[in-house]
Amino acid sequence: MSRRQIIVVSNRGPVGFTRDAAGARGARRGGGGLVTALRSLVSHHDVTWIASAISEEDRAVAADAGDGAVDETARDGSPYRLRLVAHDAIAYDWFYNVVSNPVLWFLQHYLWPLAAAPSADPGLHHAWHEGYARVNRNFAEAVLAELEARPGATVFFHDYHLYLAPQMVREARPDAQLAHFVHVPWPQPDYWHVLPEALRRVVHESLLANDVVGFHTSRWARNFLRSCEQVAGASCDDPGGALLLDGRRTLVTSHAISVDPQEFDELAASDAVLAAEREIAARRPEKLIVRVDRTDPSKNVVRGFRAFELYLDAHPEMHGRVAMLALLDPSRQDIPEYSEYLGAIQRTARQVNDRFQRLGWTPIDLQIRDDFPQAVAAYKQFDVLLVNAIFDGLNLVAKEAPLVNERDGVLVLSENAGVHEELAEWAISVNPFDLVGQANAIHAALELPPEERRARLDAIRAHVRRNDLEVWIDAQLADFDRAGAPS
Ligand code: F6P
Repeated sequence: MSRRQIIVVSNRGPVGFTRDAAGARGARRGGGGLVTALRSLVSHHDVTWIASAISEEDRAVAADAGDGAVDETARDGSPYRLRLVAHDAIAYDWFYNVVSNPVLWFLQHYLWPLAAAPSADPGLHHAWHEGYARVNRNFAEAVLAELEARPGATVFFHDYHLYLAPQMVREARPDAQLAHFVHVPWPQPDYWHVLPEALRRVVHESLLANDVVGFHTSRWARNFLRSCEQVAGASCDDPGGALLLDGRRTLVTSHAISVDPQEFDELAASDAVLAAEREIAARRPEKLIVRVDRTDPSKNVVRGFRAFELYLDAHPEMHGRVAMLALLDPSRQDIPEYSEYLGAIQRTARQVNDRFQRLGWTPIDLQIRDDFPQAVAAYKQFDVLLVNAIFDGLNLVAKEAPLVNERDGVLVLSENAGVHEELAEWAISVNPFDLVGQANAIHAALELPPEERRARLDAIRAHVRRNDLEVWIDAQLADFDRAGAPS
């Protein structure tokens, strides 16, 4: 494989810097599947990674580096350049806490009750221009500076934080090769009409400044093709997926991201995971339902608890014999919708527990913290894995957990998670809004005969091992080639 020059651009970087009480600088691996996924890109290619300086210490690292770029080393020892972009703090707040998450994330996961929200008030318009557009401009400038030094590099943007940057780069560099991977769902065209015309139009036009736009599933890619026609007036160039706008051709593709199975094999045997597993094993009842999520409204935790409550209502014989372990990573807590949702999660768990619990048995064990070894330990221990997202771009938990599970656990999977396109055959599918259906699915999963459980789990594992991260990376590089090398 020939080495390529790739400029990866994402809001959250692969590491975040910290300073301890003694004043020493440390680096903490950034969260999320994206960071893990792109690691193998770093091992095989010359990568410069551009990301926001988020913590105080990130900003100090950026300032010490002058142009913001430092030499970093990935976990496997591969070197890469990390360029941290320090934004104005208020602009970043508007970018992340007003536009990217409460508007774009909400829109792309269909999270609003439209009679009540959103309202594109002056605050939102202001935050769009002075926050979202400004931060995108900072990213575009950093990309242009890197392209000066590496004119042949492919720029690989990620996600909904950076929709405006491609057009800004394209205006200055008509020849550059630009690709964008959207890790979240793409909703149907009409739903984009919740955003004022100028805003929805610029999102679509800017994405079409890329040579390639990628999604996890064909469902999101199809929606994108249609919404580019409807919102931006683009025309579909070939049914296989390319769009034409103002003489520019954009390839639209879908490849589901994956995981590195070897990493999970190693993690499962690590001391930290084994210690966490001993704790879970000591507390668990006969049957364990596990969910591992961020406390994001799109993950549908509250309905999951309600469905479990219905299941307990219908199955008194299982009281004391089954529990749900919910390991939830607190997320985006500066955004009121998120802190309110965390409150709703806690309230609902409490209500269910108050109804049913008795000495020695708590139906829902709710743990709110970021603890990856504990999550992997729970992956090993589940009898049922509940992934009931309202909508989800992919959902990596559904791929990670079966890899290390030791109990022939069954996957209960939302039909609106991107990963459903790949794993539905071996999962029990649920509609995320149907509480009765989810309660029945929990029952069906717990009742499945052992040989059937084993066969389904083995099939999921085989699929994930066959379609691993390397396959996803190779598909991205092949798309760059199909779209044509930079001139
Ligand atoms: O799914 C999109 C995504 O960017 C993931 O890569 C990541 O796990 C998650 O959202 C994290 O979001 P944030 O950076 O806001 O914590």
